[in-house]
Amino acid sequence: MKEFFQENKKIAKTITEVADLANYLWQKGWAERNAGNISVNLTEMMTETQFELEHYPMFQLERSYEALADLFFFVTGTGKRMRDLAINPMKNACIIKMNKKGNAYHIISMKKRNLYNFRPTSELPTHLAVHNMLVSSGSKNKAVVHTRPNELVAMTQIPKFQTAEMLNKTLWGMHPEAFVFVPRGVYMVPYILPGSHKIADATIKGFENGHDVVIWEKHGAFAVGETVSDAFDMIDILAKSAQIWFMAMQTGNEPEGLNDEQLLELKEAFLKK
Ligand code: 13P
Repeated sequence: MKEFFQENKKIAKTITEVADLANYLWQKGWAERNAGNISVNLTEMMTETQFELEHYPMFQLERSYEALADLFFFVTGTGKRMRDLAINPMKNACIIKMNKKGNAYHIISMKKRNLYNFRPTSELPTHLAVHNMLVSSGSKNKAVVHTRPNELVAMTQIPKFQTAEMLNKTLWGMHPEAFVFVPRGVYMVPYILPGSHKIADATIKGFENGHDVVIWEKHGAFAVGETVSDAFDMIDILAKSAQIWFMAMQTGNEPEGLNDEQLLELKEAFLKK
């Protein structure tokens, strides 16, 4: 089975992209220990869809994701390090096939004997809820990335940035690209227990409302994109804003930010088609 995934060039390329991203996340200092998780909808890349599923153990889910019935996903493993994923993605992540009801999955990329200490990410409820929403809405986005950009998380420790309005205004104001590339801004989810259905429900509200990035207060960022690189770029651009904000603050001055007129000018120049 491993050979099948390696021979499928599109899947092999996608897995290499995930491994490269895992390396960037580690290099950026956003991926201590097992921090972060990634999933990609591989279904359109699958050339062979008939698997003898009885050979692969089935894991029941607490909820049904009807739009995901029979679909295939690459998903990072719980407790796995991004720095290890970068070197050996097939050991630190897996490919799952959802069952016909969308309420269980089979891990189809690993031998049974390797499964005793492997499970998909604890944030699977959010990843599946987001993919379910993306597939249902016919979105082109196939990749979902969760990471811990230090500066963005630090901003959510400051009460005045715990509303999307204040956070977006500040992030957009730090450099023009933040507004040009993330024009809908972030959606803020107040602190909720990680790995829960509650955080999944709160997160999909942000993506349903057209945001590309959802910030989890005091925890991290979730982003969607056509590829993992696209999702990462969104977070990276915003993390740069947060970094500039902190650098300016370190000089003892509150940064000015772009004013409403300058943001409007950017909108006119780059966003009106
Ligand atoms: P996992 O190791 O289960 O993916 O959890 C890491 C994480 O970042 C939780 O939010």
